[in-house]
Amino acid sequence: MPVVSSDPWSSTPADRFEMLAHEYGTPLYLYDAEDVRSRVQQVRDAFEGQAQVYFAVKANPNLGLLRSLLGKVDGLDISSGGELDQAQLAGYDPASLSFAGPAKNRAELTAAILSGAGCISIESVRELDDCVQIAREQGRRANVAVRVNPKLLNRAFGMKMGGRAIQFGVDEEELHSVLPRIAACADALDFRGIHVYAGSQCFDASGVVEGVTHTLEIVREIESSTALRCSTINLGGGFGLSHTDADKEIDIAALGSALTPVLRSFVASSRVPRRIVFELGRYLAANAGIYVARVISSKISRGKCFFMVDGGLHHQLAAAGTFGAALRSNFVLRNLSRPEAPPVRCNIAGPSCNPTDLLGIDAELPRPEIGDLIGVLKSGAYGLTASPLLFLGRHTPAEVVAVDGKFVLGRRSRPMTDFN
Ligand SMILES: Cc1ncc(COP(=O)(O)O)c(C=O)c1O
Repeated sequence: MPVVSSDPWSSTPADRFEMLAHEYGTPLYLYDAEDVRSRVQQVRDAFEGQAQVYFAVKANPNLGLLRSLLGKVDGLDISSGGELDQAQLAGYDPASLSFAGPAKNRAELTAAILSGAGCISIESVRELDDCVQIAREQGRRANVAVRVNPKLLNRAFGMKMGGRAIQFGVDEEELHSVLPRIAACADALDFRGIHVYAGSQCFDASGVVEGVTHTLEIVREIESSTALRCSTINLGGGFGLSHTDADKEIDIAALGSALTPVLRSFVASSRVPRRIVFELGRYLAANAGIYVARVISSKISRGKCFFMVDGGLHHQLAAAGTFGAALRSNFVLRNLSRPEAPPVRCNIAGPSCNPTDLLGIDAELPRPEIGDLIGVLKSGAYGLTASPLLFLGRHTPAEVVAVDGKFVLGRRSRPMTDFN
């Protein structure tokens, strides 16, 4: 199994970061495509080919990054009409797209059906009725799965997105009324199977196994009680990776060893062909990204040392601890310009007028000087597009992808006035 380096930027010299900062401006996002690709391969290897690997675009929709994964992933999980367009712009075959989300509107459903999207996850009776109506109006069949909100509350997932009253999916106990409606509309719906997404940030391999085991029981129940057959079984994502601890992530090898036999025997005992999918975001992309900001100013306030940088929560909300984290901890930080400087305990503050705009609190890093570049590691997932970009009207950062030995601009920097 290939070893995934914990920091793909660790061997990049200071002058290379400076050159990139000079060319694209700061702040700046950098993504290492090879790191994402090697993680895709690592997941494939762990499941010995029993599971397909989709990338969840919501984690990082950067065009350059998506293009770098063409032919490397089996497909994409998309969650909006915008992501449908982005995926097609990046060159993905619509048949390789899986579309989920609790409030897909008619325009989005129509676009997905007309594109021939591989699988639309039906999350409510309203969506089911809309898909049927749109497909009939357009003279098409919609490829659908039913997204199930399982009875099982899977405590192993840090953020739970099933197993309780929630907006996602059809409650498992309601399947008996929804499935016959799907079966009765075979002229409009090509039923592909089921989709269960238990949540995000699961570090415990046995938690994933428990969730998958329950999902496979749902499949057996559907197939014993209806004539529907689940050729696609989307097992969701949520493999854990810590942004704040350099080495903490789910043990993918242990997960593979525990789950592969379960999947293999399930497929072997099935009378129909199965396509089993994991749709992963954070686990694939987070490690690849680094957010780079320049030190603009410094001061001591009441005995505490502050370094003010030109990047902050408007581009990297999660690093400031305000994107769903129960407890705030510093993301892994590096002084990219002066890695050998003696360490100092300090706060790294962003430029906004909000006191929570802190990329580091009491962080220890090599003592920065004004002009130095500070890197926020593990910024490749839920970074830029999960942040309030227009807050305080600063330029958006450029995003640059290191791919096949080159640096490629994945999205340019834009001034506030571009969004008027
Ligand atoms: C339906 C669905 N699939 C996949 C993902 C990706 O999850 P993760 O990045 O935790 O792997 C999400 C995240 O919210 C999701 O809602």
